[in-house]
Amino acid sequence: MADQDVRELTSDDPPVKARGLEGVVALESSLSFIDGQKGELIYRGYDIHDLAEGASFEEVVYLLANGSLPTEDELAGLRQELRSERTLPDPVLDLLRNAPDDAHPMAVLRTAVSALGLYDDEADVMEEAANRRKAVRILAQIPTIIASFDRIRKGLDPVAPLDEGTMAHNFLYMLNGEEPGEAAERIFDVCLVLHADHGLNASTFTSRVIGSTLSDMYSAIPGAIGALKGPLHGGANREVMRMLLEIDEQGADPAEYVKERLAQGERVMGFGHRVYKTMDPRAAILRDLVKELSEEAGEMKWYEYSMAILDTMRDEKGIDPNVDFFSASTYYQLGLDPDLFTPIFALSRTAGWTSHLLEQWADNRLIRPRAQYVGDRNRSFVPLQER
Ligand code: SDX
Repeated sequence: MADQDVRELTSDDPPVKARGLEGVVALESSLSFIDGQKGELIYRGYDIHDLAEGASFEEVVYLLANGSLPTEDELAGLRQELRSERTLPDPVLDLLRNAPDDAHPMAVLRTAVSALGLYDDEADVMEEAANRRKAVRILAQIPTIIASFDRIRKGLDPVAPLDEGTMAHNFLYMLNGEEPGEAAERIFDVCLVLHADHGLNASTFTSRVIGSTLSDMYSAIPGAIGALKGPLHGGANREVMRMLLEIDEQGADPAEYVKERLAQGERVMGFGHRVYKTMDPRAAILRDLVKELSEEAGEMKWYEYSMAILDTMRDEKGIDPNVDFFSASTYYQLGLDPDLFTPIFALSRTAGWTSHLLEQWADNRLIRPRAQYVGDRNRSFVPLQER
């Protein structure tokens, strides 16, 4: 039905809106599927448990962008492309040097990715091949942006990426200035796999709305980063760690702490989800990872606090954790700074955002929903001098 066949709705009509577009199916996609009742997530037909267990993040990048898991040669080709694109244009590195040390890392990431577009000759070329090259370029450079800004704000020199190694290996190397241990690299790689795509979440939808106007990838990805920054979305993992640290500093009982927050009518970050009505399968995988890390480190408190909070939220509100809840303690146990948790989420989700843009452009239609007008009507105009 074309839009012109549907008259504009007003306050004379019964309310039709779905608040926050809840339950609205906006488009078709082949990238990922979520069954919120069963707690199931698949990427291009593969269950998230199989991918977390057996695939590297680069394999998932290839799967989302191309629709199939790569062969050895295809994977080697993607890894070579990513390696060749990791270095930042000098003016973007200068932008990171000039950013305030206390700037929000997601604001720095949003700004730097936007700046990358100024130095990419293909920024406004909308051919598929150019967009695929830009997708690899942006994905390769985001880890360098995050790691370089973190070191600069700490008064350290940025560390150049290695010529070999996976994205997970190189990110931790550029961040810490030393190569990660095998366990840390594997667990971080699984985290990247788990965050890569997730249907039409707010930041992915944002990227597709921007892409649907035929604007460019350097406009759509900063827009998605801006959406992910919010505490109701990707920013929740930072807030979860803030809560765990506050519990620890206060020597509070986690269950009592959460009950007090709920009694104040507050949201407990890391819980609830628009689609999942049972445990987010990613949260279950991360729960096991943080237990493994905690046992290896001999530091169980973050895991124990988290499990006490989980039990309390289930008992008090019947609400399960989402991906942000256990990713917080997992990243913390890996030695990552809490304000880097959301940029790391963005690093991984860039695989999803760019693949959704390629899918949008393959069969594009401008995304333009309707609003029900509930404002004033038929008002008589009074000229300024008479008001
Ligand atoms: C991500 O969409 C995606 O796929 C996102 C994501 C992805 O991979 O891209 O999965 C990643 O963003 C996960 C979500 C991270 N956000 C948080 O953890 C923030 C805390 N969560 C809530 O704000 C909330 O659960 C949302 C925003 C995630 C979902 O909100 P909805 O679907 O709009 O649900 P709602 O706000 O209408 O809440 C329904 C009820 C309410 O109770 P009543 O007021 O009706 O009595 O559940 C309660 C809410 O109060 N509730 C919570 C709660 N979440 C929902 N109560 C306390 N703490 C919470 N966290």
